[in-house]
Amino acid sequence: MDTSSSKKFLLLFVTFLNFFYILLAKNTPFSMSFPLISTQLSHNSSSKALFLSSLVANSNQNTNTKTMPRVSSLNYKSTFKYSMALIITLPIGTPPQNQQMVLDTGSQLSWIQCHKKLPKIPPPTTSFDPSLSSSFSVLPCSHPLCKPRIPDFTLPTSCDQNRLCHYSYFYADGTLAEGNLVREKITFSRSQSTPPLILGCATESDDAEGILGMNLGRFSFASQAKVQKFSYCVPIRQGNHTVKPTGTFYLGQNPNFRTFRYINLLTFPQSQRMPNLDPLAYTVGMLGIKIGEKKLNISTKVFRPNAGGSGQTIVDSGTEYTFLVEEAYNKVREEIVRLVGRKMKRGYVYGEALDMCFDSVHSTEIGRLIGDMTLQFENGVEILINKERMLDEVEGGIHCVGIGRSESLGIASNIIGNFHQQNLWVEFDLRNRRVGFGKGECSMQV
Ligand SMILES: *[C@@H]1O[C@H](CO)[C@@H](O)[C@H](O)[C@H]1NC(C)=O
Ligand SMILES: *[C@@H]1O[C@H](CO)[C@@H](O)[C@H](O)[C@H]1NC(C)=O
Repeated sequence: MDTSSSKKFLLLFVTFLNFFYILLAKNTPFSMSFPLISTQLSHNSSSKALFLSSLVANSNQNTNTKTMPRVSSLNYKSTFKYSMALIITLPIGTPPQNQQMVLDTGSQLSWIQCHKKLPKIPPPTTSFDPSLSSSFSVLPCSHPLCKPRIPDFTLPTSCDQNRLCHYSYFYADGTLAEGNLVREKITFSRSQSTPPLILGCATESDDAEGILGMNLGRFSFASQAKVQKFSYCVPIRQGNHTVKPTGTFYLGQNPNFRTFRYINLLTFPQSQRMPNLDPLAYTVGMLGIKIGEKKLNISTKVFRPNAGGSGQTIVDSGTEYTFLVEEAYNKVREEIVRLVGRKMKRGYVYGEALDMCFDSVHSTEIGRLIGDMTLQFENGVEILINKERMLDEVEGGIHCVGIGRSESLGIASNIIGNFHQQNLWVEFDLRNRRVGFGKGECSMQV
């Protein structure tokens, strides 16, 4: 069913660069941004002019809140397939049509693949057919989301010739995802469904899946559906991605929560203008990195946003590998060179970002020589990356350390990607503005 299994690309759905603040209403300023970045491994950085887009709305746009059914305690358990991304299947519309979506804690707008004129066969298209859903409606141009207030701002929405609210997402590799903003319900079961939520209905996109935007923005799925928390357990993945292991996903309460240890999200006042900061991301206070028993000499400051907003550390399910800003990356690389530099492939860089690579025949030995890696956070919370998972097979016969240099992709943040969230419960607790981590045997959850 999945048309993307042959694709070899790194998914990068992050919101960070050149984040623009828009202050709208005088009394209740707020801003939204839906940047989305996808980096094709084969293309070069000049084409990675980073995609940026934002949607704007005024603060009284939720006038229909009182007519919406309450979804005060949405609890739902599901599974997802893990390859480079977490791909969940959600029942959308009335009656529900199952849609595959990439669970992305780094972006806001959710969108689905809408009916295509030329369904690809085989496999059969799994895109959503609006004409079969009684709860589907389009968002008219008069909706505030479609009325940008600041004319010189790069906005993804516009009114199309049919007076529909149109959005356009340019991917870094030049492909375009675009469609109309619509409203549609997610019907989890007979007794649990959301009110109609604002989604993108993509008519032009090369991707097989849509996106489930889960960041802190008010138009993310999590916010619109009033999800109080959600969590996932990323299974151990197989080298060549032909087998996609199954992980577990919860909306609402997770029965394992007692084993979780939490760190508070860093929050940022809107008045603090930091152009590179993404205030809607799940930003955590990372303190340091250990390789083996050695604590690297990295100033804690590099894991925090500076005055310009560069350097925030985010937990992102939509980014595959981990990316570190220059100062932290150099220290990690220095240590890995010290340990296994002689075996490193000289001059080899994967996807313009991963440059600590080895011939696969040595991979087990390299992992053993490097040892486990630990990401350290506040309150003694740690993410332990087992030595067996320090390296990832990026192409036939080549393994790389799953850590890249942020700057090489034009990124200003530290990003903890899904590769380093394997066998870990990660809970995003929106209500208490914290992230929890717990040990998981994610391939075995039922
Ligand atoms: C991929 O890996 C699986 C299990 O490790 C193996 O059975 C399969 O033959 C591999 N496929 C390719 C194309 O290498
Ligand atoms: C740690 O790094 C700083 C700056 O890079 C340097 O000044 C200091 O001497 C280092 N400390 C140790 C123990 O290496």
